[in-house]
Amino acid sequence: MNQKSEPSDSDYLAVVENLCALNGKLEAIVESSTNGIAEIDREGRLIAWNPSFQKMFEIDRENPDRDFLFDYIPSQGDVSREMLPILYENEMVVLKDILIDNDDPKLQRFLEIKLVPLNIAKHVDFIVIVKDKTEILTALQNRETFIKTLLDLIEDIKIDNRKTIYHLAALVELRDLTTGEHLRRVEAFTRRLAGEYSAVYRSRDSWVTEDYVDDISVSSVLHDIGKVGISDTILLKPDKLSEMEMDMMKQHTSIAGRALEKHRGKKDFLAMGREIALTHHEKWNGKGYPQGLSGTKIPLCGRIVSLCDTYDAITHDRPYKKAVSHERAIEIIATERGESFDPEIVDLFLRVEKDFNRINSELG
Ligand SMILES: [Fe+2]
Ligand SMILES: [Fe+2]
Repeated sequence: MNQKSEPSDSDYLAVVENLCALNGKLEAIVESSTNGIAEIDREGRLIAWNPSFQKMFEIDRENPDRDFLFDYIPSQGDVSREMLPILYENEMVVLKDILIDNDDPKLQRFLEIKLVPLNIAKHVDFIVIVKDKTEILTALQNRETFIKTLLDLIEDIKIDNRKTIYHLAALVELRDLTTGEHLRRVEAFTRRLAGEYSAVYRSRDSWVTEDYVDDISVSSVLHDIGKVGISDTILLKPDKLSEMEMDMMKQHTSIAGRALEKHRGKKDFLAMGREIALTHHEKWNGKGYPQGLSGTKIPLCGRIVSLCDTYDAITHDRPYKKAVSHERAIEIIATERGESFDPEIVDLFLRVEKDFNRINSELG
């Protein structure tokens, strides 16, 4: 049996030196972190904090009225100074999108605050980690405001030039290089399919005129305008999106709906652009998004562009999947008759599918 020898003084010294070195490293990490990091006791009294925390809250050591964390952040439901002793028994608490208000809107901050209970240190009861999310959140708001401002400008100066719509769609092109050609093809498919709808159903749906066909074709290029509000890491990701990323990507429909809200119900091509952007991922069987509309509750323009967008998406390479042939695309779309797509629209597509193939080879 092996017998361990007693540690010598030099062994103890080595351990202490290692611990001191580790402590120094940790201190350096905490001091240089861009996240605010603080220690608080069970009552929420601030014990120590790093420079980022100091900067975020402009802590005044001389002011005895503001010794506590909740003097600097608003209480959130159960998370308050009174509740801290109870929270201490729990796991980590995360407070999201906490607004630190200021009379000057430019100085308002959005913070994510984590309270991590700590039961190893004598005087410290929680470590508080604060991330400043203001830039991320305002960048998203800015994108929406940008689209809105542009649309308002167009309305104000009453530009009656449909080419303007391409400048709007170009906002998406700028960020996703694959989208440019996609938009032109979707426009051509939409013109062909809506034209066929008008030819076949004009006596029943008298409103599907030549002007309607023209409007829907031009407005179809706006179907993905909401992608301007999706982050680059998701939009340009070469792999399949995770479930959470997919949920964020799906928001491109409602982002466009909000950005074009002013045009809701109007009789112009931007109003139709809004309807298309909002409903081109709805499905005939009600399993689409964002609203889960079904059947003819989905506007005709959304039903038509949905098929054209899908045909183009599956017959072209995407970063995460290979293109299928025209023949395979016909099979896929026919299988989705009454599921993803309006049965009438699928039947019309089958009448004009050769033109879809021709447009695909002409516009690459
Ligand atoms: Fe889309
Ligand atoms: Fe698309």
